[in-house]
Amino acid sequence: MRINQNYLKLEESYLFSTIAKKVADFQQRNPDKEVIRLGIGDVTLPLCDAVVREIHGAVEEMGNQETFHGYGPEQGYPFLKSAIVSYYAQRQIDLQPEEIFVSDGAKSDLGNILDLFDTENTVLIPDPVYPVYVDTNVMAGRSIVYLNANQENSFLPMPDPRVRADLIYLCSPNNPTGAVYRKEQLRNWVDYAKDCGAVILFDAAYEAFVQESGLPRSIYEVEGARECAIEFCSLSKTAGFTGVRCGYTIVPRELKRQNVALNPLWLRRQTTKFNGVPYIVQRGAAAVFSRKGMAQIKSNIAYYQRNAKIIADSLSDLGIWYTGGTNSPYIWLKCPGGRTSWEYFDYLLHRANVVGTPGAGFGKNGEGFFRLTSFGDYEKTKEAMRRIRQIVE
Ligand code: MLT
Repeated sequence: MRINQNYLKLEESYLFSTIAKKVADFQQRNPDKEVIRLGIGDVTLPLCDAVVREIHGAVEEMGNQETFHGYGPEQGYPFLKSAIVSYYAQRQIDLQPEEIFVSDGAKSDLGNILDLFDTENTVLIPDPVYPVYVDTNVMAGRSIVYLNANQENSFLPMPDPRVRADLIYLCSPNNPTGAVYRKEQLRNWVDYAKDCGAVILFDAAYEAFVQESGLPRSIYEVEGARECAIEFCSLSKTAGFTGVRCGYTIVPRELKRQNVALNPLWLRRQTTKFNGVPYIVQRGAAAVFSRKGMAQIKSNIAYYQRNAKIIADSLSDLGIWYTGGTNSPYIWLKCPGGRTSWEYFDYLLHRANVVGTPGAGFGKNGEGFFRLTSFGDYEKTKEAMRRIRQIVE
C-alpha cells in the first residue's frame, strides 16, 4: 500500500485552520479580551426571509408522505436550474439548464473539476490566490506556474504569451485582493486560453458584490468564453449560505478538448460521485433568485458594503495603502511599519484583539499584505477600526 505522496508536499494545515488555532490559543490565554474577527470571509447576517420561508415549506413537504422527496437529480432540480438560467438571462447571458450543475459550493467543485483533466497538464495560478486552487493541484501532483499579481499590475495579472498553460484559474472580483478585471482584460484571457487550447476555471463567487456598472460579473460576458471557460459560483457570500451549502458550476456545451465535450464528462463524474444537494437547500436557493429574495439579499450586501467603506475610510485616514472594498467584500492592505504579514497578524491580534488574514497565506506575493473582510457585524467592524486607529504608531 502506498499513500498519495503529494499530500506530504502540502503545508501542514489549511490557512484558515491555522488562523483559527492561533486565535483559539490567544483566547484561551486571554479569556477577558473581546476578539473581533475580520479574518475568514464568513458571513454574519442571517438568511433572508424569502429563503427561510421557502426552507420551512420544504421541511413540511419532507415530513409528508405525499410530498416527500428521496434522491433528486444529481445535477440539481429543474426549478433551481431554471431560476439560475433566468438570473443569467437578466445579464444577456444565455444558458441551457443542462449546462448548470448544482453543488454544495464552489470550493468542492473547484477541487473536483480536476478529475476531468490529466495530471500532466500545467496549471497557471495567479499569486496571491485562494489557497484551494493551489492545494488541490498539489494533491494531484500537477505542475504549477505562478503568475505575479502585485501593486504594479493592480493585482490583475495579464497573460504572458511566452508562458503556455493547460488550466488557468481566474477569480474576479478577486479573493484575496478585491481587484476586478474589466471586460477587455477578460477578453485577453479568453483569447490567450483559446490560443493555448487551455481551459479557464473562472471563480465568480463574489460577483454579487460588483457595484460599478460595466464591470463583468461572469466570464460569459466575453464573446467566445463558452468555448474555453467553466464558471463556478456560490450562494455562500451572495446570500449567506456558508452554513447551508449551495453553489453551481456552468460547463457550456461548446467546451471541447481533444474533440471531447467536457459537459457530459462532468455529468458522468457528478452522477457517479455525488448524490446532489438536499431538496430543502435547493428550495431555499431558488428563493434567492425570486424578486423578494433578490431585494432582500441586495440589502444584506449593502450592509457589508457599508462595513467595507468604514474599513476603507479608516485606512485612507491612516495613510495605509489598500485596494478592494468597492466591488468586493475584501480589503487588501499593505502592512504598516514594514511588517511581514504574520508579524502584522500577531500585532493586531495582541494589541487590538482584531483578527485578519495574513497576505502571505495566499502566496509569496501576498507577503507584506493583509486582508480584512467586511462580512462582520457593523458595530464590531467600527470598533475594530477604532482599535486599529489607536495602535497606529
Ligand atoms: C475566505 O475567507 O477566503 C473564504 O471564506 C474561504 C472560502 O470561501 O472557502
